[in-house]
Amino acid sequence: MRLAVSAVATIVAISVNAGESGEETLKAALPGIFEKCAAHYKALDAAATPLVDKGSDGMKQVPHGFNRKTGKLDMRNIDWWTTGHYPGSLWYLYEATGDGFFKDRATYWTELLEPNKNDSSHHDTGFMMYCSYGNARRILKTDKYDDILRTTAKSLSKRFNESLGLIRSWGDIRDRKNFLVIPDNMMNLELLEWASKNGFPYGDKVARSHATKTMAHHFRKDGGTYHVLNYSQEDGRVQQIWRGQGASCETAWARGQAWAIYGYTMMYRETGDKAYLEFAQKVSDYAINHPNMPEDGVPYWDFGAPGEERDSSAAAIIASGLLELQKYVPTEKSKVYREFAVKQLLSLASPAYFSEGDEIGHWLLKHGVGHKPEHSEIDTPLDYGDYYFLEALLRFRELKM
Ligand code: GLY
Repeated sequence: MRLAVSAVATIVAISVNAGESGEETLKAALPGIFEKCAAHYKALDAAATPLVDKGSDGMKQVPHGFNRKTGKLDMRNIDWWTTGHYPGSLWYLYEATGDGFFKDRATYWTELLEPNKNDSSHHDTGFMMYCSYGNARRILKTDKYDDILRTTAKSLSKRFNESLGLIRSWGDIRDRKNFLVIPDNMMNLELLEWASKNGFPYGDKVARSHATKTMAHHFRKDGGTYHVLNYSQEDGRVQQIWRGQGASCETAWARGQAWAIYGYTMMYRETGDKAYLEFAQKVSDYAINHPNMPEDGVPYWDFGAPGEERDSSAAAIIASGLLELQKYVPTEKSKVYREFAVKQLLSLASPAYFSEGDEIGHWLLKHGVGHKPEHSEIDTPLDYGDYYFLEALLRFRELKM
């Protein structure tokens, strides 16, 4: 399918030549998009650097978002779940541009996160440390961070319950009443898979078990995800379903679905297990064929909340996931995933979503939704939206056309 030129022209402020495919348009625009991203992040970094020590409790702080009421950057202590994404975006900008500024700043922010390696109090250390240190080791081709990553994987594995076969996402590991799991947890398995191939073989057992149990329980027949499942530690059954960050227990929260698309694709890459590949397609097909998916490919914050806010972060995660998934499936399916991801990236790079000047403190993407039921971070930039947007653009750059 070629994107109709008229449709593209209305959503993308980049030149579209008659008869051009979406891929051709994006390819031509890509250097300019990276240039704009780099300029934004240079300005963002200049504003954020003086704030690193301004935390109330002596903990270092990392940029997270933007407070539209105060017009100020939202900085978070290094133990906040998203603190790997800002340094990760700087690593991607270094990869995109080769500009040493980004290497230096990425190194600086990454190395602030080391204390997280011993944290077993939640599951997000995979995000925090693999998006930062994981990209650092890959891009710099260094093993100097490997001990930090292995230690983090061991800390995360302490949350694995052998009899349930699952990692506890949220809550204290001694809590006997609740055992909470969310699909977001799929993203933390990449660190465990890396560690299993680098001196911590148990990581693979934990990751596969968690992914397989999640596949069995966490999705409805149609492939839509629940957000929070509360398992019984007595008999292993799901004792409660909570709506969590979604609109209801019976609708699919868009970012949860996005984490599943990305997470099962990654698990197929890491294990070669075809069950994960099949499942990655099922959860992807749910999203891209959903009747409430808007024409521009940027979902509402929940698939059951049409007409409400969009979530640009979910679109960026889906685009990145699909650009990987398309490599593993037959040609016809590959085309569908690739074209959908390109449509999403063209939308995200357009003025409808991509920020201009300092309107959102130089973050890249407008219109993310953090936690709507808690009235938190609605229609706002999110560090992880930018991270997966940059990753998806880099994955696109690698495509053979
Ligand atoms: N892992 C929490 C979120 O996606 O908002």
